[in-house]
Parts: sequence; structure tokens; C-alpha cells
Amino acid sequence: METQPRFFVSADKSLLDIETIHGFLTNCHWAKGISRELVEKSIRHSLCFGVYEVAQGKRKQVGFARVISDFATFAYLSDVFVLETHRGNDLSKLLLGEIMKHPELQGLRRWMLVTTNAHGLYERFGFAAPAFPEKIMEIFVPNLYEKEAELLRAIESEKTCPK
Ligand SMILES: CC(C)(COP(=O)(O)OP(=O)(O)OC[C@H]1O[C@@H](n2cnc3c(N)ncnc32)[C@H](O)[C@@H]1OP(=O)(O)O)[C@@H](O)C(=O)NCCC(=O)NCCS
Repeated sequence: METQPRFFVSADKSLLDIETIHGFLTNCHWAKGISRELVEKSIRHSLCFGVYEVAQGKRKQVGFARVISDFATFAYLSDVFVLETHRGNDLSKLLLGEIMKHPELQGLRRWMLVTTNAHGLYERFGFAAPAFPEKIMEIFVPNLYEKEAELLRAIESEKTCPK
């Protein structure tokens, strides 16, 4: 009997599909070229949330987000995505809803995130443009992973075909 797929969100790291997460992140505009090792390290040091589809007895990861936090005063929401095949099904709202009610993330003084065009999604969960942007500072290195990957490729080709 054909049953409708079921979706759930979990913060259990043992369920994460690193292949899927790295596959998305290394091709997305904000982390293009990121290595699998760096993705694994970022996951080790974050509270991670997976979105899963269960269909015909099989579980498949279709979304992800991670939260970098001291679990007391501050949290930074990062690497939010839903796979293209599964967009428009309310899954990012399901994901954000679970993140914002996670027991370790209550009573924080400040949440932050960076988004290019998903402001409307995050506004639903209480995010707003900074009230005093002039007070916020950053160190930002655009295209860092692409540059590193290029450098590694150059070193490798130098090793295999030395001049
Ligand atoms: C953004 C993203 C996570 C949304 O996932 P989704 O599961 O398709 O979204 P949902 O079905 O839960 O709907 C999201 C809601 O936010 C709104 N929204 C606002 N900005 C949006 C955006 N840039 N993309 C998608 N939805 C957006 C939608 O209109 C929708 O509202 P509605 O229910 O009133 O129509 C998904 O499009 C994605 O992974 N995009 C690529 C990665 C990305 O941009 N991530 C955000 C980085 S900050």
C-alpha cells in the first residue's frame, strides 16, 4: 500500500548524512568549495538539525541547519537548506520551528544569522534587521574555500607534473 511520505526534524547527529550536507554546502553560494573535513568539523562543534523524509520504510535527509551557541546567551544560525527537490513543502518552517523551541536555546540575549534573500522566512520566527547596524562589526573573507581549493589543486598538479 502506497503511503504519504512523513517528515521529521531531529537534533540527533548520528542520523546526519554527511554526503548530502557536504554535497549541498560545497555547491552553495555561501560555502562554495568547502571541504568535507571542514563540514565535519563544523558539525562536531555545532548543534545540528536534520530534516528527514520517511517513505516506504526508508529515511532520507532532505534539509539541514546548524546552530553555533554557548547555550546561555547567544546563538548563530547557519547553513540552513532544504534540498531543491523538497522545497515549497513547509519544511524550512518545520525546521525553524523545532530549532527555536529547542530546550538548550531558550532565554538567549541575541540570535544572529546572515541571509541573502530569505528574510521573510526568518521574520516568521522573530528575526529582524539589526536595530543598530552601526554597532555590529565582522571579519568576513568571501570565497575563502574556493581560493583554498584552487591553491590545493595547484599544489597537487605541481606534485604530479613538476616543471
Ligand atoms: C530558503 C529555503 C530553506 C526554504 O525552504 P522551503 O522548505 O522550500 O520553504 P517553506 O516551504 O518552508 O516556505 C518558506 C516560507 O518562507 C518564505 N520565504 C521567504 N524568503 C524565501 C526564500 N528566499 N526562499 C524560500 N522561501 C522564502 C516563503 O514564501 C514561504 O512562506 P509561505 O509559506 O508564506 O509561502 C530553501 O529555499 C533553500 O534551501 N534555499 C537555498 C538555500 C538558502 O538560501 N538557504 C537560506 C540561507 S540564509
